[in-house]
Amino acid sequence: MAVQKHSLPSFFDATTEAQLVRVASDLGAREVGGPLSPGEEELLGQELEAPPLIGESLATIRRAILGGADPLGEMLRELRAPTVRRALGAFYTPPELAHSMVEWVLSQRPDRVVDAGCGSGRFASAVVRKRRDVEIVAVDIDPLATLMTRAVLAVLGHERASVLQADYTAMDLPRIEGRTAFIGNPPYVRHHSLSPSQKLRAQGRAQQLGYRMSALAGLHAHFYLATPLHARHGDVGCFVTSSEWLDVGYGAIVRDLLLNELGGQSLHVLEPTAVPFVDAMTTAVIACFVVGSQPESVRLSAVADARALDHLHGGRPIPRAALVDATRWSQLLRPSRHNGEEGFIALRDIARVHRGLVTGANEFFVMTRERAQELGIETWCRPAITRAIEILTAQGAVRDGSDRRVLLDISEDVDRTAYPSLDAYLRLGELPRNGRPPVCEGYICRHRRPWWRVGTQRPPPIVASYMARQAPAFALNPDRLALINIGHGLYPNHSIDQKALHALVDALNQDRERHRGAGRTYHGGMEKFEPGELESLLIPADGPWR
Ligand SMILES: C[S@@+](CC[C@H](N)C(=O)[O-])C[C@H]1O[C@@H](n2cnc3c(N)ncnc32)[C@H](O)[C@@H]1O
Repeated sequence: MAVQKHSLPSFFDATTEAQLVRVASDLGAREVGGPLSPGEEELLGQELEAPPLIGESLATIRRAILGGADPLGEMLRELRAPTVRRALGAFYTPPELAHSMVEWVLSQRPDRVVDAGCGSGRFASAVVRKRRDVEIVAVDIDPLATLMTRAVLAVLGHERASVLQADYTAMDLPRIEGRTAFIGNPPYVRHHSLSPSQKLRAQGRAQQLGYRMSALAGLHAHFYLATPLHARHGDVGCFVTSSEWLDVGYGAIVRDLLLNELGGQSLHVLEPTAVPFVDAMTTAVIACFVVGSQPESVRLSAVADARALDHLHGGRPIPRAALVDATRWSQLLRPSRHNGEEGFIALRDIARVHRGLVTGANEFFVMTRERAQELGIETWCRPAITRAIEILTAQGAVRDGSDRRVLLDISEDVDRTAYPSLDAYLRLGELPRNGRPPVCEGYICRHRRPWWRVGTQRPPPIVASYMARQAPAFALNPDRLALINIGHGLYPNHSIDQKALHALVDALNQDRERHRGAGRTYHGGMEKFEPGELESLLIPADGPWR
């Protein structure tokens, strides 16, 4: 997927965060959003380290903000390394996404909009540009983010705003009489980066609501969980997140909340091709909800381009009961043409799927033919499929060839001491490598006897990719190549001739797009299929493979 790159506003070339603070301050950050937090005060204390921008530059930034741009957010993106932004999940929302979300939220006529994890205030400012009478509460844990949001609101002249440097999952939100709309792009921070106390607090809250919260849930799930605690019946919300929670175990808490307390109305998945985020490649899902409602159906849509979102009013109604029953929701988005139809069978009815060989150390067991010859061990090597790309680009068959890599595959009964070159190579695997433990002490090698015996596996007649930012691809394996665990192997249950195997591969590849979502989709649009998930794919019942 190509990543769209926003160009830097040329008029503004801050090189340090202190300069950005200075600009925020000069734009009026102190005047809007209520009392400053100690963290914001501290940052503003450092501002004097940076020289003021000349009046003309400041005026240009002001004009850019008034014109709908986000020069401060763009600058922060340039200044902060992705690794630093990743720690806070700070990847800002592209304008076309924010626009659709704001349109939907405003169509619900809120009196107040809470921008949850406001960053540079993209949602808050988009709301204010359209409706000046709405009260804004913008929350972010990052004091530079809240200063930028204050500055943007100051430029837009919006004074009905509270900007809070706070943890959205732990703060108290003041109650109001009217309707609150929650909007945001909750931070994607993996559970490894959350503290045990954060997890325990969330688990306790989930329990109060009658749910189990997995310890593997990331911060975006915590944002979802905090929302019914901040909200009242009739409030509304619209969040965009990575789509992972649709399918994985930890996502159950988000699915439960949307089916119950949060009152999910619609889900809009942005296919990986839509590139919803500038510098975090991911499949995104936007959820619209009306707190406390329980619609009979939830609208689901999958769009390939953010411009097709149509203000989030579209989608195919799926009965709520179907969502309650399903543990993976992305399948409901792309229903197979064959599901429930006559004339189709599961792949498992004619073939079993097994993982490829696990070597325990590909860099030791896989090599080029030339290297095997140089080492004098080619007798114990056999050609192998060692990279998923070989299957993805095979166009129907993976073939042997001079550039094919080989797998060290020594049978158990070989007396290594009788073959000096083989023994010398295996000895390399028994020595520490550049300060790392020897290959033979790796987890897999330690648990097999002898450690260098990769194992026996009949070469699969058909191979499949199972982990890529695309659906699995299938290919024949006429040269009986070994397969390592970058792919799965398909083994027909009964003998099938070459012609039928060929037809089977064609049928599976022709339906590739419909297989999407039948596995699990992870952050970054990565789709992974376990063997059982491949076995569940549907194929025509009347093919020559019967
Ligand atoms: C994905 S960014 C979204 C920013 C902005 N709303 C946008 O869409 O452009 C997530 C934001 O959440 C903030 N954040 C991370 N943890 C937070 C927390 N516990 N409470 C509040 N904000 C948090 C980050 O600093 C970051 O600005």
